[in-house]
Amino acid sequence: MIPVARPVFGDEEIEAVTAVIRSGMIASGDEVTRFEKEYAAYSGVRHCIATSNGTTALHAGLLAVGIKPGDEVIVPSFTFIATASSVSMCGAHPVVADVEDSTYCIDPDSVVEQITPKTKAVIGVHLFGQPCDISAIQQICDDKDLLFIEDCAQAHGARYKGVQVGNFGTIGCFSFYPTKNMTTGEGGLVTCTDDEIAEKIRRLINHGQQEKYLHTEIGYNYRLTNIGAAIGRVQLRKLDVMTKKRQANADFYSSHITKKGVLKPVIRESCTHVFHQYAVRITPECEMTRDQFAEYLRMKG
Ligand SMILES: Cc1ncc(COP(=O)(O)O)c(C=O)c1O
Repeated sequence: MIPVARPVFGDEEIEAVTAVIRSGMIASGDEVTRFEKEYAAYSGVRHCIATSNGTTALHAGLLAVGIKPGDEVIVPSFTFIATASSVSMCGAHPVVADVEDSTYCIDPDSVVEQITPKTKAVIGVHLFGQPCDISAIQQICDDKDLLFIEDCAQAHGARYKGVQVGNFGTIGCFSFYPTKNMTTGEGGLVTCTDDEIAEKIRRLINHGQQEKYLHTEIGYNYRLTNIGAAIGRVQLRKLDVMTKKRQANADFYSSHITKKGVLKPVIRESCTHVFHQYAVRITPECEMTRDQFAEYLRMKG
């Protein structure tokens, strides 16, 4: 059976890490700057700010766009906990919206139902590698004067109407945890186009430091290391090839899983799904339970 997640490393990553260790500059530095520039070139977003993980990317990003105690932020009911806990880390309240039956991404109709005078933002998670209904959510946010935030932790390189995720929200937050489509060990990254927000995030992830030893606000140590960035630069060069393999595997599963009552992934129109995970849903029409079906797949290798 193909494991849910195993990082694909070659000699290139080992050599890149070795070079950083030999340089002695292992904390955040030039390698991180190169990684940020390369991810910006890859994704087409103006600013990329690397962070220590996806959760800190969300936390610093939400703080930078002004999420504060008492605010409400709408999040999907089906995601990794960090989408919601990062809101709580700002002292704000995560408010849960339902997800679409077909894609499991946040449901625009449910978002509308959850809006109150305290709502400040909506976080769309591009779940399992597939963009959420970006146009619909953006329209709601424009109409109600809310911020649209993208949680891109599972969707490196995924496209919506030809444009990569991370380009749509006020900020986009990525994770490079080892289970993700590309990794830096632990690591994350925030994308944004606004120069001021980018500067604010850079301060927040570096102890609120505006210039050397001038700390103008309370900040955190949320920096990525040069070691992580060196791995990430190599992984980024391989990302499109790895994505094509994921998509080919998904095509294979979709054409070979024929059991009644097993719902296969539905790809949204005009979207490129990067298949972080190939998730099926077992309905009562299936002759097997979820666990039996998992066991059946295991037996088939
Ligand atoms: C949707 C989602 N958001 C946020 C995160 C948090 O990322 P990290 O584990 O790098 O903190 C993850 C992954 O773990 C995720 O899947």
